[in-house]
Amino acid sequence: MKKTTIFMYTVLIVLLVISIVVAFYYSTLIKGYNQQLEGKEEKEFPAYHFVLIGEEMDHDYWRLVGEGAKAAEENYDVYVEYKGPKRSNPEEQAKLLDVAIKSKVDGIIVQALTEEFIPLINKATENGIPVITIDTDAPSSKRLTYIGTDNYKAGQLAGQTLLKDTNGQAIVGIITGSFRNAHHELRVEGFMDAIEGEEGIEVVSIEESTITRVVAEEKAHKMLLEYPQITALYGTSALDGIGMVQASESLQISDEELYMIAFDTLPENIELLEDGKVDALVGQKPYEMGYRSVELMLSILAKEQVDDVYYTDTTIVRNEDLKRISDRK
Ligand code: BGC
Repeated sequence: MKKTTIFMYTVLIVLLVISIVVAFYYSTLIKGYNQQLEGKEEKEFPAYHFVLIGEEMDHDYWRLVGEGAKAAEENYDVYVEYKGPKRSNPEEQAKLLDVAIKSKVDGIIVQALTEEFIPLINKATENGIPVITIDTDAPSSKRLTYIGTDNYKAGQLAGQTLLKDTNGQAIVGIITGSFRNAHHELRVEGFMDAIEGEEGIEVVSIEESTITRVVAEEKAHKMLLEYPQITALYGTSALDGIGMVQASESLQISDEELYMIAFDTLPENIELLEDGKVDALVGQKPYEMGYRSVELMLSILAKEQVDDVYYTDTTIVRNEDLKRISDRK
């Protein structure tokens, strides 16, 4: 063989070897990418898709519920879509529930704000979508369980606390979140039952705040002007206490003249308690409600038996208790 022919064969063989090595290298690289992608796909699409619908997205109380649910999402194979109207709006909230049913999600966790939610909850369960109520129950619906405060008991607790703190002597005004919402009705009912028959206690007025601090202030202001004999105010939703304090401050009523009890240990309310503007708070567990609602839904999907209701703790917090509270959620 000629020298040039030998050289050409050698070059060809070397080229062949190089292309085999390169082809092998890229094929393993692509295989690796594919494996990575497959892994990612599994991670990006969890086994279950739940929708949690609350009353108001832009609200500290509901933010805690959402945070609880999202924390559960970290620990379980589930995606929780957290939804709600920007501002409290029962019709919009009901629409979100309807959309969740039409989207055929794996589970719905919803605050059953009014009677109008009952047929929708029933429609969901009839379509095979399990429903859990949260914060506000609809016991006559086909929901599978409820997680949240025992709202009647919480109202009773507020009444008993007011009785104790005022030595059974008070002219009371009530600011309630809404006359239409089941949980606020129960919080008023429980309160009224707790003070029933108490000769020194009289409720002279009740107004609704539409759960906003602005309306709570407006209504408390009007109430205090109309009934200057009022010595105690009771607020049933999370921002009522703030509105009540603003009203009494603008009317220059001193903290000593007016006893106040309100709902929820949100940071702003705790500040009012620390400053002695509010005398007692009814604490709920919104974070725990969110977290446990997801766990309960997973139990339902795993065909485990669940109870009819799961009441989260409700506690009375006064200024002197603050030092002992480390968990404000
Ligand atoms: C209630 C929530 C409500 C919030 C409004 C809380 O006390 O449990 O249902 O949305 O107050 O301020």
